[in-house]
Amino acid sequence: MRQLFAPGADAIFRLSLLVIGAGVVGLFLVTAGFSRSSYVTGVGVAPDQPAPFSHKHHSGELGIDCRYCHQGVEKLATAGIPPTWTCMTCHSQIWTGARMLQPVRDSLAQNRPLEWTRVNKLPSYVYFNHSIHIGKGVGCSTCHGEITAMQLTSRANAFEMGFCVNCHRNPRQFVRPQSEIFDMTWAPPADQDKRGPMLVAQYHIGRPDRLTDCSICHR
Ligand code: HEC
Ligand code: HEC
Ligand code: HEC
Ligand code: HEC
Ligand code: HEC
Repeated sequence: MRQLFAPGADAIFRLSLLVIGAGVVGLFLVTAGFSRSSYVTGVGVAPDQPAPFSHKHHSGELGIDCRYCHQGVEKLATAGIPPTWTCMTCHSQIWTGARMLQPVRDSLAQNRPLEWTRVNKLPSYVYFNHSIHIGKGVGCSTCHGEITAMQLTSRANAFEMGFCVNCHRNPRQFVRPQSEIFDMTWAPPADQDKRGPMLVAQYHIGRPDRLTDCSICHR
């Protein structure tokens, strides 16, 4: 019994408390890191899709305009996903026998829409609208990354609240001229600190304190 409570026992007890404490902090850090990892946020991970549609091929290389397939993006809240017949305008003529396109042909033949898995999805308690952002000089790549370089589509941003609010607090860092909305490689020019405020005035973008009101996004 005496050995158990040797003079050093108190020190050992305190040391083990420290180790347990560090373990708890460590676990917390691991969990926090995990919640931000791509496994949870989906950033950079392409979900399974019914056909291996490539933006790199269709828009990057063939140069098909985003609006050919995402017709709502300038006018509506949602950009929209194209129906099968949009694909078949070309694929009834080219690559007609390709196995990769079998699900697309089946969809047309059976009059059953292709079930694309959503890449970006906000929780239902968040309101978002594409046309407002496009009209006020926020380009696709600011939110969706360089889509024209993606073989399979993945999420470029987690769309956590901080991502939205960061721009709403200070949009002048991010806005661009209308002519560059569809430039997927756009980066703010060196004189963005001069151009940004001019564009904010030109687009009549509201005061930043109003743009961070909770009711803007949670209605
Ligand atoms: C030929 C048609 C076509 C063109 C052109 C096209 N897309 Fe797409 N897009 C699709 C299809 C089909 C999907 C669904 C499959 C997928 O996610 O890859 C999609 C998905 C997306 C998504 C992800 C949607 C989601 O689920 O959240 C984004 C973002 C997107 N497209 C942006 C663009 C941009 C930007 C351009 C122009 C550079 C563009 N697309 C051009 C057909 C097209
Ligand atoms: C300010 C950020 C932002 C910009 C700019 C933006 N998007 Fe999106 N996009 C989103 C968000 C967020 C979603 C998910 C919306 C949801 O779940 O309600 C989304 C969804 C989509 C989808 C899936 C279908 C849909 O309508 O929900 C497509 C396609 C798409 N975006 C294409 C585009 C294209 C093309 C552009 C440029 C012309 C663009 N987006 C510009 C943030 C943005
Ligand atoms: C404006 C014409 C056009 C439209 C619209 C179009 N495609 Fe394509 N697609 C092509 C061409 C051209 C090729 C490439 C053939 C080659 O490699 O030479 C291709 C190739 C493909 C391939 C083979 C893989 C690859 O990327 O090379 C798939 C899969 C595909 N398309 C799916 C689709 C789907 C799904 C849609 C509708 C959302 C669609 N395409 C709409 C022109 C089009
Ligand atoms: C890169 C900048 C940027 C990002 C990122 C961004 N926004 Fe915006 N948002 C704007 C600008 C600019 C406006 C237009 C403000 C105005 O007209 O005064 C706007 C307007 C809005 C409006 C309409 C406000 C109104 O006047 O009714 C909503 C809703 C909105 N954003 C939601 C979101 C959500 C949700 C996200 C994140 C998924 C987001 N925004 C990400 C720049 C951005
Ligand atoms: C510019 C848009 C925007 C504004 C302004 C905004 N939110 Fe959010 N909020 C979001 C988005 C996007 C999410 C979803 C985050 C996710 O899916 O991880 C969110 C999520 C939340 C959540 C869920 C928990 C979480 O953090 O994910 C709460 C609570 C919340 N917001 C409260 C608020 C309050 C309170 C305000 C005002 C002080 C506010 N929001 C302003 C966009 C906004």
